[in-house]
Amino acid sequence: MTFQQQIQQGIPNQLPQPKPYETHINHAPKRKEILSEEEKKLALKNALRYFEPKFHAELLKEFKDELEKYGRIYMYRFRPDYEIKARDIAEYPGKSEQAKAIMLMIQNNLDYAVAQHPHELITYGGNGAVFSNWAQYLLTMKYLSEMTDEQTLTMYSGHPMGLFPSHKDAPRVVVTNGMMIPNYSKPDDWEKFNALGVSQYGQMTAGSYMYIGPQGIVHGTTITVLNAFRKINKEPKGGLFVTSGLGGMSGAQPKAGNIAGCITVIAEVNPKITKIRHEQKWVNEIHENLDELMTRVRKAQENQETVSLAYLGNIVDIWEKFNEENLRIDIGSDQTSLHNPWAGGYYPVGQTFEESNMMMAENPELFKEKVQETLRRHASAINKHTAKGTYFFDYGNAFLLEASRAGADVMSDHPTLGREFKFPSYVQDIMGPMCFDYGFGPFRWVCTSGKPEDLQKTDDIACAVLEEMIKTSPEEIQQQMKDNITWIKGAQENNLVVGSQARILYADAEGRMKIAEAFNKAIANGEIGAVVLGRDHHDVSGTDSPYRETSNIYDGSRFTADMAIHNVIGDSFRGATWVSIHNGGGVGWGEVINGGFGMLLDGSDDADRRLKSMLFWDVNNGISRRSWARNEGAVFAIKRAMEVEPNLKVTLPNFVDENLF
Ligand SMILES: NC(=O)c1ccc[n+]([C@@H]2O[C@H](COP(=O)([O-])OP(=O)(O)OC[C@H]3O[C@@H](n4cnc5c(N)ncnc54)[C@H](O)[C@@H]3O)[C@@H](O)[C@H]2O)c1
Repeated sequence: MTFQQQIQQGIPNQLPQPKPYETHINHAPKRKEILSEEEKKLALKNALRYFEPKFHAELLKEFKDELEKYGRIYMYRFRPDYEIKARDIAEYPGKSEQAKAIMLMIQNNLDYAVAQHPHELITYGGNGAVFSNWAQYLLTMKYLSEMTDEQTLTMYSGHPMGLFPSHKDAPRVVVTNGMMIPNYSKPDDWEKFNALGVSQYGQMTAGSYMYIGPQGIVHGTTITVLNAFRKINKEPKGGLFVTSGLGGMSGAQPKAGNIAGCITVIAEVNPKITKIRHEQKWVNEIHENLDELMTRVRKAQENQETVSLAYLGNIVDIWEKFNEENLRIDIGSDQTSLHNPWAGGYYPVGQTFEESNMMMAENPELFKEKVQETLRRHASAINKHTAKGTYFFDYGNAFLLEASRAGADVMSDHPTLGREFKFPSYVQDIMGPMCFDYGFGPFRWVCTSGKPEDLQKTDDIACAVLEEMIKTSPEEIQQQMKDNITWIKGAQENNLVVGSQARILYADAEGRMKIAEAFNKAIANGEIGAVVLGRDHHDVSGTDSPYRETSNIYDGSRFTADMAIHNVIGDSFRGATWVSIHNGGGVGWGEVINGGFGMLLDGSDDADRRLKSMLFWDVNNGISRRSWARNEGAVFAIKRAMEVEPNLKVTLPNFVDENLF
């Protein structure tokens, strides 16, 4: 069968041969045993409902085995034989170009070069799922291959509920992931309902088909590292940045450190991941011996080198060793997956990677104790460094939240609403006031032809648009504009593409609209093929997350999720090709609501109309909320938007004189 025929077939009507468990692939850790015997039966019944009864006896045995061995039913046997990757859009079968674009994006999220645990359909963050099992994948691709522009596919946490009649301006796909009744949104609820096969953790861009490899975060990380050095009034050259994690997102840190020009030391416990990042040239060197690493860092400091050094081991060892040896760290952070602390997101110090994986599955209570003990040691070592002048920030991975829950010394002596912790989150100090409040966020695009030349042309178009805009940009956003122009000029030589031909750029509403409009014209003129627009959920308006994206909201509303919900509803009727809304993502289930969109630009007038309507809303929704929270940058930005668009009328806050109290 051709690739197209296999897609159109969906779930095959003959059982494929069982597939061996391939050990060279990076697999998800065994999930903890959470279901009772009765619930296991329910999980099996749930899995079998995808298949005709004649196959049930054979599959039951196999699925039961998977559930016992891995804690989940992935249906490995149904993993397709063709290569999964973003292909030229013309290769996808179907009646709708929009649906084909979505297939391309789904396949990119499952590409071996992109996905963290491809066989378990996990894209990043340890549990960021595109689907929960292979039957869902097969069925979804089949629906997409047969749908028209008068239908909408509804996705319930990885499960394709079906195609429903709609209209050409409606989204082709509406995705929800992990949306729970709020009271059932604790980490163990995820374990249980995911094991039952009725819910999943979509992370941000995994379950919404908008992941573009670590590039997606390199740009944001570069901006963060640059601005962290600006905050301590130090040039990155010769400066030392210490952090951890070489995974899906965290793997961007050494690359960003190199672009910023500092010395990066990054710990990673997983040997496979460390090797992959080194081979991909995202990190320059691997060290396994702490003394040798010390010598190497000192040499790099003396020579003011720009270099990234991976330490294959636990991050706590680094913080403690550098303290003993009195090595000064300029900026420090952490990007282990603490949104997922009990299932492989954070590894305890003093035991091997394998020992931890075993303990996690066989003795989860002891594992939890070890994690919390490590967090206390971790925070204590960081405190010793910050006492000597290190600038430490939480990198949106729930480090401070989990450390505080573990009883670590991370709470502020004078907590106020929004400043509970000793250390700021990167959004409170950097990303929020400098980017999000002005509307700058991680806008991205993917060239659906798969051609590097198209990406080069779109880079040139975007750069020309920004260079024109900066001439009249107000003083308040000059730095952001300059950083973006520098980024886009260096993007090609920094070799950022892993998977689809994609680019990310921090742009504000005006920049996003102008760039998109210019792309649509270039497509209409035949200069480039169709382009998918999107963004990270981690953006101005997409995410309500009190300890991350909305951590610089100080009016008490950071524990609400109205903004993210409004955003996805608003995007859906203003022309998005697909929309998504997730519980969880980044900082953990129950801790965040986040949403995103995808939009196909095909050069048509319809696309032009949609992009203007949707992108304007997609950014200004969040700015209006940030402005109402009295964030001064956002007040400035929303007033500016109202001058440009007379139909925009936003309620502005009045500031109260503190002396009145
Ligand atoms: N700041 C942001 O913009 C942003 C964006 C995306 C994700 N995140 C968050 O950052 C975290 C990391 O994301 P990811 O996609 O890289 O996850 P990931 O799970 O792919 O990578 C985390 C890595 O940390 C390693 N690790 C765990 N404990 C360790 C320890 N004690 N010492 C050394 N290494 C250890 C793991 O082996 C893993 O490879 C997540 O919580 C994610 O939600 C932040």
